[in-house]
Amino acid sequence: MPVSNFLKIAACVLFPVVLAACGGGSESSQQAAAPMRLAAVQATAQVAAEDYFPIVQQLYIAYFGRAADPVGRNNFAAQLLQLNAPTDIQQMTDAYNNDGRIRALVDSFGTSDESKALFGAGDNAAFVTVIFQNVLGRTPDPASSGFLFWENALNGGGLNRSDASMSIMAGALANTTPQGLIDGKLVNNRVAVASAFTAALDTDIKINAYSGAAAAALVRSMLASVDANTDVASFSTNISNAVNTLVANAPPPAPTFQTVRAIINQRCLTCHSGGGAQAGIRLDLDSVVHSQAAMIYQQVVVTRFMPLGNATGMTDDERDIIKN
Ligand code: HEC
Repeated sequence: MPVSNFLKIAACVLFPVVLAACGGGSESSQQAAAPMRLAAVQATAQVAAEDYFPIVQQLYIAYFGRAADPVGRNNFAAQLLQLNAPTDIQQMTDAYNNDGRIRALVDSFGTSDESKALFGAGDNAAFVTVIFQNVLGRTPDPASSGFLFWENALNGGGLNRSDASMSIMAGALANTTPQGLIDGKLVNNRVAVASAFTAALDTDIKINAYSGAAAAALVRSMLASVDANTDVASFSTNISNAVNTLVANAPPPAPTFQTVRAIINQRCLTCHSGGGAQAGIRLDLDSVVHSQAAMIYQQVVVTRFMPLGNATGMTDDERDIIKN
């Protein structure tokens, strides 16, 4: 989009009071803001947590470049509902400035472990570059005034990163210039794909598979491939492929203690129970199995010294279960 328009939008988002500069669209939305808030309060019962799913995805895409996981999405939406937050990101930028609880919630993006891993060592220029890629699908010119606007605002301390990513997203969705409309299409396609991806995580196995840095990176690159021309309906194949890959790559779930206990009963107790237990290690006691866990791992998985001479015929599958 042209820089001057970008700055206007940015300024409207950041300084909503200076509305004379914002053009017709923004003025009318500002006039509507007060009655709409009132309506939101009166109609609280009609707002459901699901109504916040799009804004949650918008915030995740802007900040993390990925779709929300179902648990994160639901928690975030439930908290927004409880705070009676707006469901629209334009109004959210106002609410952020006016309501400390909403601000704290949005700011939690910036204090998360994922944020530290993604941006921890990087400066604000690196941060703004990533947010532009997440929201607009292109690398910004670091000399452009649109870019410098955000970088300087962050460097000056007048703006924090959570607020900046939300405002850049809000600006992209509000921009009605020709380039802005294309950008808006890209963002909306990414939100639609992200929403469909999160909805596709419909079993515990799939939900658990979408965790950790590698899974996040896979979904990040899937979303990065979505642009203004993406046909969201046919992209569902890419979504199910991504889910299948996540499930295939997921580490096996940790076995339950009962499973481990059954193996120990069968393979170890002949020599490790009661008063005559070898090496004084009574594996008939759960407390000893827990306290000796590291030693059991060492003897069974690393050195394979136990069971002694494999007298009890322990299988490799059983050693794998002990390992997990
Ligand atoms: C055939 C008998 C026998 C079986 C079966 C057996 N152990 Fe042992 N275990 C021993 C003996 C004997 C020692 C003492 C070895 C030593 O002190 O060098 C021992 C020692 C150990 C030790 C202590 C090692 C150390 O360095 O202090 C651990 C832990 C252990 N066994 C775990 C197990 C586990 C777990 C199983 C089942 C998967 C198992 N053992 C099955 C005979 C057995």
